[in-house]
Formats: sequence, C-alpha cells, structure tokens
Amino acid sequence: MVGPPPQDTATRLIGIIFGPPGSGKGTQAARIEAEFKLKHLSTGEILRAEVARGTPIGKEAGRIMAAGDLVPDELIVDIVRGRLPEAEAGAGVLLDGFPRTLRQAQALDAMLAEEGHRVDLVIALEVPEADLIERLLRRAEVEGRADDTRKAITERMHEYHKLTEAVLDHYARQGVALERIDGTGTPDQVFDRIRKAVPSSLAGEGAPGRKGPGRVGADAS
Ligand code: AP5
Ligand code: MG
Repeated sequence: MVGPPPQDTATRLIGIIFGPPGSGKGTQAARIEAEFKLKHLSTGEILRAEVARGTPIGKEAGRIMAAGDLVPDELIVDIVRGRLPEAEAGAGVLLDGFPRTLRQAQALDAMLAEEGHRVDLVIALEVPEADLIERLLRRAEVEGRADDTRKAITERMHEYHKLTEAVLDHYARQGVALERIDGTGTPDQVFDRIRKAVPSSLAGEGAPGRKGPGRVGADAS
C-alpha cells in the first residue's frame, strides 16, 4: 500500500513536517518528496533565497532571521499564498517551517478551505534539545548559516516553544492525523520510522475512494 497518493484534486495531500530547529525537517522532507512525490515547500529556504538575491523581502527578513526571530506573519502568509497552488498541484505538498504561529495556521486553514481542502497529516519530529544544538553548531562549521550562532539558536528555540509548539495542538484538536516520530539516530533510521508510520495516512482508506484523514467531509472530529 506504500506509494504515491493519487493525483486528482480531491485526493491531493496537504502535509506538514513539524519540529524544532535542527530536528531534520529539511532532511526528511527531501526524502519524503523523493518517495511520496509530495512537493517540499520550505519557507526558510524561500526566505534565504530572497536574502541571497537582495530582494525587498530579503532585506526585510534577513536581519530578523539572523537574530533567530520570526518574520511577520503577513509577509510569510503572502509568500505561501503565492506558492501554494503550484506546489500542491501534483500529488500534494509538504510544508516545512510553516505554519509557525497560530495566526499562520488559521491563515493556512482559510486558504485551504477556499478550495475545499484542509491539512491531512502532520509529521512531528522529536529530538532532545541538546542534540538539536549540537547538530546546528556542527552545521555552523560546515555551512555557516547566518542563524546557526549560539545566540540565534537560543532565540530560535525560545520562539519555537513560545509560538510554534501551539500549532501542533491546533491540528491535534482538529483531529488531523498526527505522527510523532523519534528524530534521533541517523537520517535513514528516521526516514524508516516515517515510512512505517505514514503510509496508512498517505494511502488512507485506499484510492480512489481515499477518505483522507483530514479531508473536508471526512469524519475527522
Ligand atoms: P527554517 O529554515 O524553517 O529553520 P528552522 O526551523 O530553524 O530549522 P532548520 O532548517 O535549521 O532545521 P531542520 O529542522 O530543517 O533540520 P535540517 O534537516 O536542516 O527557518 C529559519 C528562519 O526563517 C526562522 O528562524 C525565521 O526567522 C524564518 N522563518 C521561516 N519560516 C517562517 C515562518 N513560517 N514564520 C516566520 N518566520 C519564518 O537538519 C539540521 C542539521 O542537522 C543539518 O546539518 C542536517 O544535516 C543535520 N541532521 C539532520 N538529520 C540528522 C540526524 N538524524 N542526525 C544527525 N544530524 C542530522
Ligand atoms: Mg530546515
């Protein structure tokens, strides 16, 4: 039953890969994209590209990101609104780094509701904070990402606990399928856990009549 979900509009999958900074969202999203054909949409990557190109958005976001703070909700929601239709056009989309506040989650829900969709699946990566910090400091030595300094990492963790964690409860309360995945071990081990946990959610009740765990009209309470 493992395999890409069907591609008609009614069965498109809207997934979120969720977790604190350094938990492996980007690493696992790339693998999920390759295996399940869900388009990986990372707001962090989009913003870093804007910063690199020196665009007005990049100029606004760059300093905020380097400090480890969140960019304004309106800015990020506009970015996602502009990109979501194309990103979800195939098998569906896997959102990485968005939504990150309750306001963003509400904006996403409203966007999806306009087309009769809702979030189907949240994959939440769980990694102890000491491991996260170690991973990010190691990456700092290799890649030099502007927000991988000790100070910015502390702020990113703080913002995660203060504003982002609540997004998980928001979707749990909606009855969206939530897969909590142990994000420790090697990237391959983590992906194996995702693969084992996710197929039933992805394939749902079986195509073409896939109910989809969070599909509008399905009995997700
Ligand atoms: P964003 O780019 O989303 O960064 P983040 O959430 O801080 O997370 P990272 O990208 O650092 O980590 P990750 O979970 O993707 O893990 P990764 O796979 O890279 O956001 C950056 C900033 O942009 C925000 O702080 C904010 O300013 C702004 N922003 C973005 N979205 C926003 C939004 N919606 N609203 C407002 N502001 C927003 O792995 C991390 C490292 O660990 C890598 O080096 C990797 O190789 C390694 N690694 C991965 N898996 C493993 C493993 N299993 N074992 C060992 N090492 C591993
Ligand atoms: Mg990332």
